[in-house]
Amino acid sequence: MTHVVVENCIKCKHTDCVAVCPVDCFYEGPNFLAINPDECIDCGVCIPECPVDAIKVDTDKNYPDMDYWLKINTELSQSGWPVITKKKDALPDAAEWKDKPNKRDLLEK
Ligand code: SF4
Ligand code: F3S
Repeated sequence: MTHVVVENCIKCKHTDCVAVCPVDCFYEGPNFLAINPDECIDCGVCIPECPVDAIKVDTDKNYPDMDYWLKINTELSQSGWPVITKKKDALPDAAEWKDKPNKRDLLEK
C-alpha cells in the first residue's frame, strides 16, 4: 500500500501536502506532484492537507483507474524530478482548474 497523487492535482499544485510529510517523499513536476511509493510510510497526514482532495490511498476502490495513478506516481517520482519539502504558491490558475475533468493529458512530465 502507498498513497498517491491523483488527477485533481494537475494544473493546481497547491503543495500544502509537502509540508507535513514526515519522510519527504513528494517530487515536483511542472504542474503535478508525485509520491514515491517506495518511500511513503502510509501515515495519511497529507490527505486532509490537500484543498482539492487529490491524494488517495492506492487501495481506494472508489477512485477510478488507480492502477494508472500508481504507475504515474512510481514513474514520475523516480524520473529525476526534485524532492519538494516546502509549501509554495499554487499555480496561478489553480482555482480555474479545480475539479475539472479529463486533465490527465495535461500532465507535464
Ligand atoms: Fe508522506 Fe505520509 Fe502522505 Fe505518504 S501518507 S506521502 S508518508 S504524508
Ligand atoms: Fe497537489 Fe493537493 Fe499537494 S493539489 S500539490 S496534492 S496539496
